[in-house]
Amino acid sequence: MNEIPENELKLKPKNDGELGFGTIFTDHMFQMRWSAETGEWNSAQIKKYEPFLISPAAIVLHYGIEIFEGLKAYHTENGDIQLFRPQKNIERLNNSAERMVMPKVDPEFILGAIKKLVRLEKEWVPHTFGTSLYIRPTMIGIDEFIGVHPAEDVLFYIILSPVGAYYATGFAPVDILVESEYIRAAPGGTGAAKTGGNYAASLLAAEEAKKKGYTQVLWLDAKERKYVEEVGTMNMMFVMDDEVVTSPLTGSILPGVTRDSVIQILKDWDIKVSERMITINEVIEAAKSGKLKEAFGTGTAAVITPVGCLNYKDNDYIIGGNKDKVGELTQKLYDYLTSIQYGKKEDPYGWIVKID
Ligand code: COI
Repeated sequence: MNEIPENELKLKPKNDGELGFGTIFTDHMFQMRWSAETGEWNSAQIKKYEPFLISPAAIVLHYGIEIFEGLKAYHTENGDIQLFRPQKNIERLNNSAERMVMPKVDPEFILGAIKKLVRLEKEWVPHTFGTSLYIRPTMIGIDEFIGVHPAEDVLFYIILSPVGAYYATGFAPVDILVESEYIRAAPGGTGAAKTGGNYAASLLAAEEAKKKGYTQVLWLDAKERKYVEEVGTMNMMFVMDDEVVTSPLTGSILPGVTRDSVIQILKDWDIKVSERMITINEVIEAAKSGKLKEAFGTGTAAVITPVGCLNYKDNDYIIGGNKDKVGELTQKLYDYLTSIQYGKKEDPYGWIVKID
């Protein structure tokens, strides 16, 4: 590892309360290279976080040949630092790699690299509940070639960012606009892969929704604009009387790690949880009749985010009778999940990986 001279180390944020999301980066990064010629990863190293040079013709810049992940390191009250289900993120990274015809990584090796990097940057892990060190593994195709083809020269790197809440409002209900014109992902497309193009394609709809005062959009299926899919930055769950409903992983939805965790927790609490196709009409009718008690999103960045209002075809539907109130189950899930992540409660699932 290249030592960074003391006077070149960055100043760490002084106040955890002022951390936003994704604007501050630590001193070091991990990186390694892959070439189709050898079919192997090489030159793995932890080095100074700094800009790198790639050709203006690099295929990532032209065709979006890239994938990424997002996971977090948490500070516990007794001073430990721990990761939440990192193996799931690495597994999903490899699934995304397959979809984007990129090389897979060795899960054990990458987990080791994440641990080593976080250990080195332990002073950057914020202490306050609700804050964490966001870990962003990224893989890009850097072949210098203006032609559409699978990456033959690949750069993989991991950067770290101390973060607070993803949404500026923190743990408070957000208003969501149901998008009935644009789509996020089509059947057979890349919706289940964590690749930049999915996010780029979401921007126009998100910007239009923001102008109307909504935080995000809820995507419907591409074919019929009938079934609920996800909210780009999070998977969605609807509490319909005593059943929690979430869309199944049809191939156009990102298989969220938090989604999977919440499903397991709900099952253990003997709460009926159904992964089933749900139409937007069913959601709206349930909102109107009062059957829709709560709605919330799940995601690594979003954690568990309550949804207070859904706008569909220019009508606002308030969820649970009060758009500013966090639902009981939403709160209970948030408390339980974060208590595992921050080491306040025993982890009965084996989800926690300590940074020793
Ligand atoms: C995450 O939840 O980690 C993501 O990658 C979503 C992104 C919008 C920050």
